[in-house]
Amino acid sequence: MKTKMKTLGIETSCDETAAAVVEDGSKIISNIVASQIDIHARYGGIVPEVASRQHLLAIIPVINEAMVEAEISWQDIDGIAVTYGPGLAGSLLVGVNAAKAIALAKKLLITGVNHLEAHIYANFLSEAKNLPSPLKGEGGERVSCRVSFPCLCLIVSGGHSDLVLMRGHGQFEKLGRTLDDAAGEAFDKAARILGLGYPGGPAIEQAAISGKPCLSLPRAWLKNSYDFSFSGLKTALWHLVQREEILANPPRVADAAASFQCAVVDVLVAKTIEAANNLPVKQILLSGGVAANKLLTQRFLNSSPIPVLVPPPHLCTDNAAMVAACGYYHFQTKQTSSYDLDVVPSLSIG
Ligand code: KG4
Ligand code: ZN
Repeated sequence: MKTKMKTLGIETSCDETAAAVVEDGSKIISNIVASQIDIHARYGGIVPEVASRQHLLAIIPVINEAMVEAEISWQDIDGIAVTYGPGLAGSLLVGVNAAKAIALAKKLLITGVNHLEAHIYANFLSEAKNLPSPLKGEGGERVSCRVSFPCLCLIVSGGHSDLVLMRGHGQFEKLGRTLDDAAGEAFDKAARILGLGYPGGPAIEQAAISGKPCLSLPRAWLKNSYDFSFSGLKTALWHLVQREEILANPPRVADAAASFQCAVVDVLVAKTIEAANNLPVKQILLSGGVAANKLLTQRFLNSSPIPVLVPPPHLCTDNAAMVAACGYYHFQTKQTSSYDLDVVPSLSIG
């Protein structure tokens, strides 16, 4: 094995066609993401058939661009890591088949990666930073920080909200999950109710800047459980918007966005901190698109008793660098896939 191992990551599980080259599971050499957001925005959400057709158009140019930007040839690549689930079947198929074809043609190792594990591994990239903890007397700039096991992982994306105990590489135990809507899905639906566009998370975050979290919305605490539930909150927002005719009053839309964001963040932070207090974990790792939310990271910063790692926003949302990072650790333990690798749209973690 070479001292510096280069992994090509490929990600097509949802609406981003992405390819990246990562060295030793940590250093990003290139990271290309072709987003379909503009195409799906006109429908207010992802249309699976449109997504898979777009992946087909973009996959080869995106992989080529990742190779060109990395200024390397195929002989420099040691293995290919590709997301094989969870996600949209038609979208996953494009990435998995592209990866298998290239692996066969270039005689490269291939490994199938769980998209949820990949989100966690965004924290192993050198760009992930440790939030300075005021509780521990730290201050100043975020600093790079190595992951220490065991750690607690909060994965909050458009499709999942999972609280996972990570004991070591590839060792995951699910502690909690959403019983209905994922946190990102709730943001997307709330933005739709408030007429704020798609994707909802960034739109709500932006609208909330000029609002106050002054409207009363419920929090599903689900006592004695690390599970989450966000669909009641979404329904409560819908009733509030109808009852108080909020859409006719832009400042109230901002207040509703701020109140909704606060309700989601309250629950995510409180449940994660509770788990961190009950378990012998050394760090909290945030990941998934919702981890790009500034209120969420700020609240963790203010209340976590242990260090909190979070990737920069562009590595919280879907990308292939996190897939390559996860794949690197598969290759370290000789965990490779055969050309039989198939997609598993309902794959879970732990
Ligand atoms: O991880 P991701 O890119 O894709 C999935 O695996 O689902 O997450 C996308 C989700 C979307 O629901 C989006 O609204 C949400 O992450 N999101 C945010 C923010 N940026 C993206 N939610 C809250 N605040 C944000 N800044
Ligand atoms: Zn994702």
